[in-house]
Amino acid sequence: MAKETKDFSKYFQPPSLTDAKKRGKEEISVHYDFTIPEDMLVFGANKFYMIRTYGCQMNEHDTEVMKGLLETMGYSSTEDKLQADVILLNTCAIRENAEDKVFGELGHLKALKAEKPGLVLGVCGCMSQEEAVVNRIMQKHGFVDLIFGTHNIHRLPSLLKEAYFSKEMVIEVWSKEGDIIENLPKKREGIRAWVNIMYGCDKFCTYCIVPFTRGKERSRRPQDVLAEVRDLARQGFKEITLLGQNVNAYGKDFEDLIYSFADLMEDISKIDVPRIRFTTSHPRDFDDRLIEVLGKRGNLVEHIHLPVQSGSTEVLKIMNRKYTREHYLTLAAKIRQTIPDVVLTTDIIVGFPGETDEQFEETISLVKEVGFDFAFSFIYSPREGTPAAAMEDNVPMELKKQRLYRLNEAINEFSKMSNEKLRGEIVEVLVEGESKNNPEVLSGRTRTNKMIHFVGSMEIVGKLVHVKITEPQTWVLKGEIVPEPIALA
Ligand code: 5AD
Ligand code: SF4
Repeated sequence: MAKETKDFSKYFQPPSLTDAKKRGKEEISVHYDFTIPEDMLVFGANKFYMIRTYGCQMNEHDTEVMKGLLETMGYSSTEDKLQADVILLNTCAIRENAEDKVFGELGHLKALKAEKPGLVLGVCGCMSQEEAVVNRIMQKHGFVDLIFGTHNIHRLPSLLKEAYFSKEMVIEVWSKEGDIIENLPKKREGIRAWVNIMYGCDKFCTYCIVPFTRGKERSRRPQDVLAEVRDLARQGFKEITLLGQNVNAYGKDFEDLIYSFADLMEDISKIDVPRIRFTTSHPRDFDDRLIEVLGKRGNLVEHIHLPVQSGSTEVLKIMNRKYTREHYLTLAAKIRQTIPDVVLTTDIIVGFPGETDEQFEETISLVKEVGFDFAFSFIYSPREGTPAAAMEDNVPMELKKQRLYRLNEAINEFSKMSNEKLRGEIVEVLVEGESKNNPEVLSGRTRTNKMIHFVGSMEIVGKLVHVKITEPQTWVLKGEIVPEPIALA
């Protein structure tokens, strides 16, 4: 039987474009007093959890926080649905197909929940921040026990307890956006770690749901970020990726401090971690000082992910990207001038409402002019509540697919050519583990984030080694390990 549902208007304030755009001056408060209620510290003893994560690195990292919380409560992780006492779906709302996958999974879990009524089934992440999704779950998936939003992750222990004992679906989705919660436990694995430097986004690109699902832009205090990075360095992590929806806006919300993303990178470059990456950049806020700091290299790697979205100034304007084609090209050229061997990657949307053939051709010509080694390319997907969803989408799907195909061809062509130039070069590789398809072969990444395969022993996993590139391909480089440490140019 479906659970009863509460009057959820008390728990859920749907994102409103008008209200969201007024944001800015409300106070940001950082909370350092996070604790898990004492009675919850043993709540998960002899119980198992499973979290399925969809979407971006921000979500992956939120999952690490939820794992940290659950394991502090005594839960153990499992990959077996049948063994799990708690299953959480950490969802993504960026495009329709991401949402479809989650609803498909909920369909499968319905049967499991019928067999195992004690199972607590929760939906969290970006989809929970959308009113239409919460309504749909309440109406059609009444077997879900718990829905919580991206601002409520720290409340997981109390929400879980409520879900265990409540007959009603527990829903807690706040649009209160000004808070930063420090000192949350995180379960990290492997040799690479993510660190949030900021949350939310105030850019309001007209196609994008993120400013609604992730809330107001707010930066963590520099001392908190630096302390976390130092701690990870001490623990032996080899690579740290700094996360934010628009890392170049870091620090703009500080009222008492002038401290930018370039300052943060400069301070982090002094910490003893071999590699520092960051994602995602916004071309409008990417300033010269940052280029200068990145130009000093050291642990700041030669890879910049710089979403362009479109090569047409007119389309960029309707997307509210706040820069022109020329601005992007000049920025890319400046970066290349300071860091000649930089690898640039990007995100591109095709088939935005009203995109003409000529405008699409401008995207192709920009791609060729900049030379991206990799790009995430997407067909535009309307998101309810965003301004673009109200625009007339007059590009037929068949044409959008053709454009995507042509775009991918252009990107692959450059990627192949760029990799070919690396033939015979010796590069520094961070060894990650066995390659997916062949346990005899190890897989690792270059500083520029290119995947490389080579034969080697498992003992070097987690280490930095030198590899000679013998067989460059479009998607992966193949190489041979160079036995003696050598000085790289
Ligand atoms: N449709 C298609 N792609 C989108 N992105 C964001 N919103 C949409 C949308 N509505 C893409 C952008 C962004 C990346 C994370 O996802 O390219 O940079
Ligand atoms: Fe979305 Fe990125 Fe634009 Fe922010 S900057 S609205 S996250 S596409």
